[in-house]
Amino acid sequence: MDSSAARKSRSQPTQALPAKIFHWVNITSLLLMIGSGLQIYNANPVFGGRGGWHFPPFFLLGGWLAGGRHWHFAAMWFFALNLLWYGVYIFITRRWQRRFLGANDIKALQVSQNPKRRNYAWHRFVYTAIIPILLLAIFTGLGMYKPAQFHWIVDIFGSWQALRIVHFITVPTVIIFAVIHSLLSLKVGGSCLIESMFW
Ligand code: HEM
Repeated sequence: MDSSAARKSRSQPTQALPAKIFHWVNITSLLLMIGSGLQIYNANPVFGGRGGWHFPPFFLLGGWLAGGRHWHFAAMWFFALNLLWYGVYIFITRRWQRRFLGANDIKALQVSQNPKRRNYAWHRFVYTAIIPILLLAIFTGLGMYKPAQFHWIVDIFGSWQALRIVHFITVPTVIIFAVIHSLLSLKVGGSCLIESMFW
């Protein structure tokens, strides 16, 4: 390799294969979960009851209530197990210490005058913050699926309807965070950083 090619390949960001697999499975299963979740929602809207506002067919998956439930529970296994193995992976490899929000990022947000360092700290803040939202979606979903067995989950939120509202609100929250995360990725590393996560 000549020196300019070596320089070019050094400047290209690369990602660990497990992080790429996590991203692909997470995004694919999340889209299936959202489409089928909205199908279930439409059978009895969370806001306004059966006469409430319905989502248009374009966003739905499953055709009808039972079809939506089948898709939702099937995709749930991919979504939850993907998060589980990735959690084990970042814990065992100590990746969570290197790649996620740390005390140095919080300090940078408080005192740094360097806009690049601050953007990078925000970037790490946002992708770290998505993880607890995904866990909240699973936790509230579990409580709604088996409210008798997991009555303590229902109790934490006060009622089954409150649990349902929190579960529903995780959807726009995840979407907003994922959009901010994509824009920050673009800002700190350009399109080559985004490509590095997917290919
Ligand atoms: C809900 C959806 C998403 C979640 C939960 C998520 C989560 C994460 C997490 C946890 C990391 C750190 C990975 C690691 O280093 O092990 C990460 C990194 C990254 N994500 Fe996402 N992501 C999501 C969607 C997206 C989307 C839609 C894009 C791009 C369009 C994207 C682009 C990236 C990039 C480029 C990095 C690498 C950041 C860097 O190296 O500085 N992600 N994401």
